[in-house]
Amino acid sequence: MPLSATNLIAGYGGKPVLEKVSFTLDDGDILAFFGHNGAGKSTTLKAVLGLIDTIDGEITLNGERIEKMSVDQRLERGIKLLPEGRGVFPDLSVKENIDVVDAANRAKGSQSISASDVYDLLPVLAERRSSIAGELSGGQQQMLALGIALLGTPKCLLLEEPSVGLQPDLVEELFAKISEVCKDLRVPAILIEHKIVSAMKIADQVMIINSGRLVFNGSKAEAEKIDLWDYF
Ligand SMILES: Nc1ncnc2c1ncn2[C@@H]1O[C@H](COP(=O)(O)OP(=O)(O)OP(=O)(O)O)[C@@H](O)[C@H]1O
Ligand SMILES: [Mg+2]
Repeated sequence: MPLSATNLIAGYGGKPVLEKVSFTLDDGDILAFFGHNGAGKSTTLKAVLGLIDTIDGEITLNGERIEKMSVDQRLERGIKLLPEGRGVFPDLSVKENIDVVDAANRAKGSQSISASDVYDLLPVLAERRSSIAGELSGGQQQMLALGIALLGTPKCLLLEEPSVGLQPDLVEELFAKISEVCKDLRVPAILIEHKIVSAMKIADQVMIINSGRLVFNGSKAEAEKIDLWDYF
């Protein structure tokens, strides 16, 4: 399995927040991850990336156990985070934003997604190549943040509320792009979202967390048969 967690327990200062969270993701799958404020969504992503320690349980990326690895080791293995808020340098141009990360990746050796691949995947960035990132619209800045996250050799995308601050039509556009990129590159993604209806359109799997416990984990078809709101 490209990404899986088994009975994952993690939290802060040795105190667990997550109670035995388990999931598995196939190539190109999008896992929509829902839950109320403070339920444990960001904590789950932090544990996958290694920003907090795993207290117990396993995390596996492409067959390799990663739960004891450093953040750097996990980044090297292709875990990519699209952080909450816009992960761009606002004073640099689109091209400079992309080139900084592209150059750092190239210095490290082989990479599968280069700057020119990002322009092909997200043509709006090619059109706005010389614009200052901070002067782009919110939707364009999110596309840029997504483009930056894709650079290198992505093996798994962790997307933290990419729709924040976007008007509905831009949310649909961004999600359609996320779906296209995941399927094209066969990269799985965890998509934390509060915009449930939009996220459901591109989800392959759905997971709902409530006070650190998974209360629903199933396919999109299974999720469509229930009232998701009952689980919040
Ligand atoms: N740095 C921290 N130190 C201690 N406790 C934390 C820390 N960050 C989060 N928590 C606690 O962990 C629990 C889960 O928080 P988390 O940030 O994972 O929620 P979330 O599902 O991402 O919520 P939201 O939708 O508001 O972003 C909460 O009870 C929160 O108070
Ligand atoms: Mg959060």
